[in-house]
Amino acid sequence: VRSYLDKLECSRCKLDYRSDQLHNLCSCGAPLFARYDLARVSKFVSPEDLGFRVHSLWRYWELLPLRGEENCVTLEEGFTPLIESRKLGPAIGLNGLHFKDESPNPTGSFKARGLSVAVSKAKELGVSEIALPSAGNAGSAAAAYAARAGMKCHVFVPEDTPDAFVSECRAYGADVRLVRGYITDAGRAMYADPDFKRWFDVSTCKEPYRVEGKKTILYELVQQLGWKFPDAIVFPTGGGTGIVAAWKACRELQELGWVKRSELPRLFAVQAAGCAPIVRALEQDQESAQPWQNPQTTAWGLRVPKAVADFLILRAIRESGGSALAVSEQEISDATAEMAKQEGLYVAPEAAAAFAALKHFQKMNLVRREDNVVLLLTGSALKYIS
Ligand SMILES: Cc1ncc(COP(=O)(O)O)c(C=O)c1O
Ligand SMILES: [Zn+2]
Repeated sequence: VRSYLDKLECSRCKLDYRSDQLHNLCSCGAPLFARYDLARVSKFVSPEDLGFRVHSLWRYWELLPLRGEENCVTLEEGFTPLIESRKLGPAIGLNGLHFKDESPNPTGSFKARGLSVAVSKAKELGVSEIALPSAGNAGSAAAAYAARAGMKCHVFVPEDTPDAFVSECRAYGADVRLVRGYITDAGRAMYADPDFKRWFDVSTCKEPYRVEGKKTILYELVQQLGWKFPDAIVFPTGGGTGIVAAWKACRELQELGWVKRSELPRLFAVQAAGCAPIVRALEQDQESAQPWQNPQTTAWGLRVPKAVADFLILRAIRESGGSALAVSEQEISDATAEMAKQEGLYVAPEAAAAFAALKHFQKMNLVRREDNVVLLLTGSALKYIS
């Protein structure tokens, strides 16, 4: 088994970069995407082969960027359940609702996927120190995988980040800095640090491989549905790694010819009313989003006033025929209670927001009774309890 990684390619200007060197953004400022020799993958690998492999995201090895197995930094991430909704789906008029529950991942969220792959590839390319700004979950995952890899990790978080994340990162041995303001301010503090030049920047979408780890959510759920795309997938969206990675994975699966039905799913982004730059940009028909002033929400992962990948998020929504919507804090807390009481799932506020928005999408007839809908439950509520 080998990786069919071919090169890195700019998601905007299409400039190529070598995959055996460390890269962050393209010189034009846009994220880089890993590109694979998909024709050869489809010649030598069949979806049936994958069923017999490891119970982690590394079963998709050919479509991941790692060359050497010895560099794999894993805590058995991925392979999360796709749970059928018993009550809430039918209650809101949807017969085919499934939850992709990402809370069983190491460190309790979907961020583990991206950081397992990014840390592994960084290790392969000789990195010994990583750094990132985070709203909490990405920091926890980065710190855990860095510990596993024997790397140093510097995490910059807004000072109001729930304590559980900070304690957890420190337990893994990370250097945690509390910064006044939002994740964008935490990022600024990181770039201003005198030691920054010694660190490899693993910020959301600013290195190419977190997206590669995240895209396995889509491979997995398509595999769980018997190699069929669902009709719609709903993503809580902050920095946008989840939705951007999913759209990339849809295109890859389509090109590989592994999916029985050719119609791609519609992708829906959900934000909080107090920080909804993507929703606003979509409404105003813009190609990228303006920074959101004074962002406010307790769904910390959605408090991202400006995302580097904003144009890619908007592209994924538009090309797939999806939509975007913002929900209120009240709707988020009501949805948290409903998910817990009705389904036995105590989910992070970001994930609860996605369920709250789904009710609107149903009323707006953007998803229909007979549709197969997957709601991405990105993390657990447990670290948010104060
Ligand atoms: C639980 C949870 N859900 C969703 C998100 C949004 O992630 P993204 O938009 O990068 O996919 C985050 C990010 O911090 C998060 O922690
Ligand atoms: Zn470029």
